[in-house]
Amino acid sequence: MSASPQQTPDRSSSAVFPHSADGSAAGGRPQGPVPTARFEPVTAHLVVALVALVVIGGATRVMEAGLACPDWPLCYGQWLPGGRMNLQVFLEWFHRLDAFVVGVALLVLSAASWLGRRDLPPWLPRCALGALLLVAVQGGLGALTVTRLLAPGLVTAHLATALLLVALLSGLHQALERQRLISASAEPTDARDRARLPLWWRSLALLSLALVLGQCLLGGSLASQWAAQRCLSAAEGCQWLLRHRLAATPAALTVAALLPASLALPSAEGRLRWFAAAAALLAALQVCLGVATLRLQLGVPAVTVSHQLVAALLIAVLGAVVGRSLQAGSLPPQRPAAAIPGFTSSAQTAHG
Ligand code: HEM
Repeated sequence: MSASPQQTPDRSSSAVFPHSADGSAAGGRPQGPVPTARFEPVTAHLVVALVALVVIGGATRVMEAGLACPDWPLCYGQWLPGGRMNLQVFLEWFHRLDAFVVGVALLVLSAASWLGRRDLPPWLPRCALGALLLVAVQGGLGALTVTRLLAPGLVTAHLATALLLVALLSGLHQALERQRLISASAEPTDARDRARLPLWWRSLALLSLALVLGQCLLGGSLASQWAAQRCLSAAEGCQWLLRHRLAATPAALTVAALLPASLALPSAEGRLRWFAAAAALLAALQVCLGVATLRLQLGVPAVTVSHQLVAALLIAVLGAVVGRSLQAGSLPPQRPAAAIPGFTSSAQTAHG
């Protein structure tokens, strides 16, 4: 995701982002908007829409509404199945509508970033295209889950692709924001643009994202086979539950380790410290929700769906940590906002 200034010197952030966040001159640089800034609202809204998509998908499964619309892509042969509408049909129909909106937004993001790629860092159109391909795969998997009557492998792959999209878009958003803050700095950029966060931090961030994604895959397999219910009621399929419970410990501990580790980062990395704290909190909450799900014998849909919501939020926060950490360039040292030329209030908020 990070730009490689050594290989493509004309694409270093000082070349690609020659302006301050609000377009005013920074350190003698020319005026004009940062070219990537216009993509940030799109990526921010996409993260929210994708998390909502995962949660509605979870509610659809828990409410056994996965086949409430028996055909695809229409529902009972209609765009809006008014006469058939009930809670289950609404969940499945709204899930498809949200997926359609996400697909169109990703198409626009991809097309706009490819058309404007001469002024953009190369990772932006590549990530946008990757997300577009993932959403196409996701649409295909969604169709197959209906036509193949919710085959467990397909349901799990559908969840995994959705969570990959959440991580990718969340990481992309943070990389864009960090790049804007770097380009807003008035300081000489050459050495700073090449600086990266330490390898141990980037490795830890990637490891926690990979472990939580793996844990979600195990959870998806468990849920799509209704193995937890079968284990509790008939002692069948308990190995899936056992694997999910065992894998929770290393995943949660690695996420928790981000918090003390983040204290060793440069002082300007306040946003990463904030994300590390949020991730640790979400991991603890997720374990509590998992235990509660079992204690309640999976009988309270709100608790089961919350377990999926927190999983999606955790992936979004870890994706943000990875995206922000892989982005080349360190932030300028923290200074009073008034001392930073062209530093807008939104940039100050983002700097966190
Ligand atoms: C980092 C920790 C964890 C993560 C990221 C995680 C993630 C997930 C995910 C994504 C699902 C699939 C939900 C769905 O498709 O509806 C799931 C299911 C499940 N998880 Fe976890 N989980 C974690 C820890 C735990 C723990 C500690 C327990 C219990 C001790 C637990 C119990 C369950 C159960 C029972 C299900 C199946 C729910 C169903 O069949 O509806 N989880 N988990």
